[in-house]
Amino acid sequence: METSETLFIQYFNEESRPLAFYLQKMSGYTAAKKALAMPQDDIIAEMKKSNMRGRGGAGFPTGMKWGFIPKQSAKPKYLVCNADESEPGTFKDRDIMRYIPHLLIEGMVIGGYAIGAHHGYIYIRGEYTREAKLLDRAIEEAYEAGYLGKNIQGTGFDFDLTVHRGAGAYICGEETGLLNSLEGKRGEPRVKPPFPAQAGAFGGPTIVNNVETLAAVPYIIQKGGDWFSNLGKLDKSGGTRLFCVSGHVKKPGVYELGAGTVTLRQLIYDHCHGILGDKKLKAVIPGGSSAPVLTADEIDVIADIEPLMKIGTMLGSAAILVVSEDYCVVKLLQRITKFYAHESCGQCTPCREGCKWMEDIIERIEHGHGREEDLAMLLDISNNISGKTLCALGDAAAGPVMSFVKKFRADFEAHIRGGKCPNA
Ligand SMILES: Cc1cc2nc3c(=O)[nH]c(=O)nc-3n(C[C@H](O)[C@H](O)[C@H](O)COP(=O)(O)O)c2cc1C
Repeated sequence: METSETLFIQYFNEESRPLAFYLQKMSGYTAAKKALAMPQDDIIAEMKKSNMRGRGGAGFPTGMKWGFIPKQSAKPKYLVCNADESEPGTFKDRDIMRYIPHLLIEGMVIGGYAIGAHHGYIYIRGEYTREAKLLDRAIEEAYEAGYLGKNIQGTGFDFDLTVHRGAGAYICGEETGLLNSLEGKRGEPRVKPPFPAQAGAFGGPTIVNNVETLAAVPYIIQKGGDWFSNLGKLDKSGGTRLFCVSGHVKKPGVYELGAGTVTLRQLIYDHCHGILGDKKLKAVIPGGSSAPVLTADEIDVIADIEPLMKIGTMLGSAAILVVSEDYCVVKLLQRITKFYAHESCGQCTPCREGCKWMEDIIERIEHGHGREEDLAMLLDISNNISGKTLCALGDAAAGPVMSFVKKFRADFEAHIRGGKCPNA
């Protein structure tokens, strides 16, 4: 069953939808009105029923996360939207903020009410200047019309929303690095526990959710958790997914499909019309650049959280990077590793040192100066990073190295033996 129901994509084509459009054609803050009359626990129960799993990368069940917020707290609670969208290959949150900002704002009002927060922040990637301005304008409209601020829609609930712009650091997408940055500190991930739901922004209980996660909330409240869950095909994975497909496909872009309804092959060949120049497929990275790579033989897998996990990779942010036969996978890994070495915050020694070592070794292999022992050394270093750092940036850097070396060993060996990149 491939669902034709979509929540977002039909709006990704014109200019930003103003409040007037949102009131006429979309939820128009009716979901917020409905939610603000519901007991908070019922909203969380609906979120649990929806089987929404966070769209930021880790796929954590949203209803369960909201349920972790303590009912009583001496400190104010916060809802933070993670709009950092820095994982290479990911560009879906940008479209939600650009075209339907009120959907995100309404989702945040509902989420804020459900967890007992009166202030929300949207932490937006610094490079998204246009989207930050569009969000600011939409927030202004919502305040003027009484959908934000004091006594929202006459319900007695107060909720303020602030857009906070990042400054171009990938690590500030990691939720605790983000919270430090929001507080004006260095964007370094925190030791967990305590988790943000216990002590997050400014020490108060905090929920951090991705843009796509929060933008789905008005639909879940309006149409029900079961309806949302049934948009997905697999157990425990509801709704639709926004796939960002890039690389060597004929029709790259954002695709919205029911969770668990397509394989990677269907996505690449049916939806994206196959590989550029009708070349052969060499590799697919299925969840943003930090996801372990797959070979062309491994793409008959359902593009969803559990099926990809079962074969040793991940859906992550659902950014599908497609690589054709004539692109050098060593060069690709060099670029990926350079990115993580640059973006490591430097707090944990294995990540700070190891990422740079891996970058140097892969660079010399790509440039024809590789040594026989380099592949064993790469595997050794990546093993010593994985699972040994405060945040998952270490794993994000190690996973690609392990998988590329394992699955494309012949390409690496050809570089080392031949003393140059065969594609050069
Ligand atoms: C290094 C690193 C970068 C991350 N970048 C992002 C990001 O840009 N956007 C995002 O939503 N989540 C990102 N995450 C995941 C967040 O830490 C967090 O899990 C997510 O915002 C939770 O929202 P969700 O439950 O709605 O998925 C990143 C995680 C790591 C380890």
